[in-house]
Amino acid sequence: MPSKMTHQTNMVEKRLNSLQCELKDYEQVMQLMNENMKKGLKEQPDISADLKMYITYVRSLPNGSEVGKFLALDLGGTNLRVLLLELIDGQVLLKSSIYSIAENTMIGPGKELFSHIAACIQQFVEREGLENEDLPMGFTFSFPCKQFGLKKSHLVNWTKGFKCDGVEGEDIVTLLHNAIAEQKLLVRCVAVINDTVGAMVACAHLDQDCQIGIILGTGTNACYMENTTKIEKWREDNTIRQHGEGVIINTEWGAFGNNGCLDFITTEYDKAVDQMSKNPGEQIYEKMISGMYLGEVARQVLVKLIQDGILFKGHLSNRLRTPMAFYTKYLSEIESEEEHELDNLKQVLDELHVMEYSLTDCVIVRRVCEAVSTRAAYLAAAGVAALLERVEKSFVTIAVDGSLYRYHPTFHSKMTDMIGQLLPHRKFRLKLSNDGSGIGAALVAAISTQMTIATLA
Ligand code: GLC
Repeated sequence: MPSKMTHQTNMVEKRLNSLQCELKDYEQVMQLMNENMKKGLKEQPDISADLKMYITYVRSLPNGSEVGKFLALDLGGTNLRVLLLELIDGQVLLKSSIYSIAENTMIGPGKELFSHIAACIQQFVEREGLENEDLPMGFTFSFPCKQFGLKKSHLVNWTKGFKCDGVEGEDIVTLLHNAIAEQKLLVRCVAVINDTVGAMVACAHLDQDCQIGIILGTGTNACYMENTTKIEKWREDNTIRQHGEGVIINTEWGAFGNNGCLDFITTEYDKAVDQMSKNPGEQIYEKMISGMYLGEVARQVLVKLIQDGILFKGHLSNRLRTPMAFYTKYLSEIESEEEHELDNLKQVLDELHVMEYSLTDCVIVRRVCEAVSTRAAYLAAAGVAALLERVEKSFVTIAVDGSLYRYHPTFHSKMTDMIGQLLPHRKFRLKLSNDGSGIGAALVAAISTQMTIATLA
């Protein structure tokens, strides 16, 4: 007779089975990612190509010689950050303020969103006594944008829970400048970048091997330095191509899988998460990896185990029944402590109003969190491996930013491990790019204004 514990463990493993992919699955993900990237760079990108591979127009990386005072704006999650950065001798002095974006602003009219942003800039410049300074500003706008130049960037579609009317298809800089003009501010936006580009540029400021930027936060995405000769859809100055110069490509890899190519690994839990999201059928890879969704994937598994009668004696608390109530930070908190220390886990169960639980229940909850986060780290690793194959350098630093990567205890080591398994011959390192979004925007603003000055001179 199997013991009760063995029976429970077996049932849990059965439920987790679909989340545990094998090395060959990750190899396939890497290969599919590679194929999709190539399709996205074609002269006439295949409409079914999930990876849009947007050209960012960022062609040079900083070299530490950038100087000056810049403003930066960082919008990409539930907060807006306004920063003042001073670049001196390779050093960055930074002051910043965080302003929250209310849920109804995230889904309200676009005009209100941009007025709110301008009002926050105004508050910030007043606080810093900069009202009369004509400062160039870099804007990190972390959504899929088709760029037509450094300061011409059209939002293609919203992601990560944003859905403001009247912004999709529009030029972000025009919308921002209109709102700034209404506030009668002196600020002018000289560059719009994605947060991946910010992470990469900020890291490259001090590390010349940095060729890839990754975000693992509310959403996930990657950018990398591509050789223009490999960009079939390049329609800009051909001399740049003849010289084999590079340009940063924003892959928008979160949308990988939208065409169904990841169906071979998606689970019933992923499908449930997708169905209840604000953008069903979109951002499939992102929904398996990033902070906005991982907690919900775990909750889906936990609810199944409760319904099976395996967990919490089959009792489902109202809180745990609520979509999005199991935060991704719970995964980080639970996995951060040793298995025998249950302080964080108990705190989480308390917040979820789970009153009665056994030691076995605690082991199961942790096991679920680990299965969900491990798959996420391995999937992200498969994406990075595909990029390393494109970059083809003997050693590459990958700049990584985002709360998931920063706070999860084993994300870094699991990613490193899986990249090593997928590409045993490649040398790389994953490096935290702290504050990348803001610093990167200021650096791109610096490079672009210094380039303009150089061209005028
Ligand atoms: C989403 C956005 C992308 C951004 C990423 C990380 O995937 O579409 O632009 O880089 O989130 O914030």
